[in-house]
Amino acid sequence: MYEEMIEKSVAHYRDLLESQIKRAENLNNAPALEKKDKLVIGVVGGDGIGPIITAQAQRALEAALKDEIAAGKIELRTIDGLTLENRLAVGKAVPDDVLAEIKACDVLLKGPTTTPSGGAMMESANVALRRELDLFANCRPVCVPEQGIDWMFFRENTEGEYAIGGKGIEIPGLLTMDFKVTTVAGTRRIARAAFEYARKNGKTHVAVVTKSNIMKKTDGMFSILCREMAAEYPDIETEEYFVDIMSANLIKPSMHSKLQVFVMPNLYGDILTDEAAQIQGGVGTAGSANIGDRYAMFEAIHGSAPRMIARGAGDYANPESILRAAVMLLQHIGMPDKAAKLTAAIETANRNAPITGTAEGCTCAQFGDAVVAALA
Ligand code: IPM
Ligand code: MG
Repeated sequence: MYEEMIEKSVAHYRDLLESQIKRAENLNNAPALEKKDKLVIGVVGGDGIGPIITAQAQRALEAALKDEIAAGKIELRTIDGLTLENRLAVGKAVPDDVLAEIKACDVLLKGPTTTPSGGAMMESANVALRRELDLFANCRPVCVPEQGIDWMFFRENTEGEYAIGGKGIEIPGLLTMDFKVTTVAGTRRIARAAFEYARKNGKTHVAVVTKSNIMKKTDGMFSILCREMAAEYPDIETEEYFVDIMSANLIKPSMHSKLQVFVMPNLYGDILTDEAAQIQGGVGTAGSANIGDRYAMFEAIHGSAPRMIARGAGDYANPESILRAAVMLLQHIGMPDKAAKLTAAIETANRNAPITGTAEGCTCAQFGDAVVAALA
């Protein structure tokens, strides 16, 4: 009785497989980076608290880069239109005109965007941008010096559970199926990024996080390819952990300083980095870099906080996470001194303009004032 649905689903699966084979084959053919006289930083506000917190990060970047901006070496370019309303109006996660504007930039600072969830709703703008710009490495640092925590997460950012997350199969009233896709090239490049980071930063331990005992094909291959890569880095100790025990280890004090660099498939990275950020003080405190060979996008790790907007508390949103993303942006464009200065300014603002998310604390703009004052 399901014959017709099976036929339809198999045809759908065939299309998915063909498109993923094409993607996997093209992974190694990224166009070379051209050298430009001017670096364009696109600033995208997003939804909910996005524009509120992004405005403060933009001010901080304008202050930190004022000489380069005045000399025409760097441009901060505001890109409007990546709003939920516009996305729903054209029925696309990222409207074509907005994507074209984004692709004309080199790096992006992006506020959180609301993801419509469940059913046949639209894809997340984040996921679409990560795919369109091929931002394969999601780098998320978490640092709590007093607990011996100095972690860097390398989350694979374009495939795994996210590659065709919105394209599953449904036999109504009976079952649903989603797909996870892991490619050889996609795994090798994230593993390479993690081990190179470890080597360049004097790290001695890389944790590969999978569930290869259950996800035998996808995580199984991720694990094998990471082990192969590890052989090229004999000075670094590489250990594989399953994601469940790793979620426990993150809150086990005796593991804190042993763990240094992590590499993992997309969804585990999504979950563990929120947990890690919470140890640091909350998802509002952590920055996130999405890096590819051509583009890079820096964002807060949290969402657009619609509940905060609904209760009229948007002005009290904490811009720390997106400011930490701005720090990573400065590091990425080769300005470590300015990045360090901005980090110090964020810490000063935390003391001088503490935020609680409510009217008892400072506003987002007051926090931004404190950052800009500390940068002066
Ligand atoms: C993140 C977010 C996104 C993700 C959402 C907003 C799609 O949780 O950047 O971690 O799942 O990757
Ligand atoms: Mg997340």
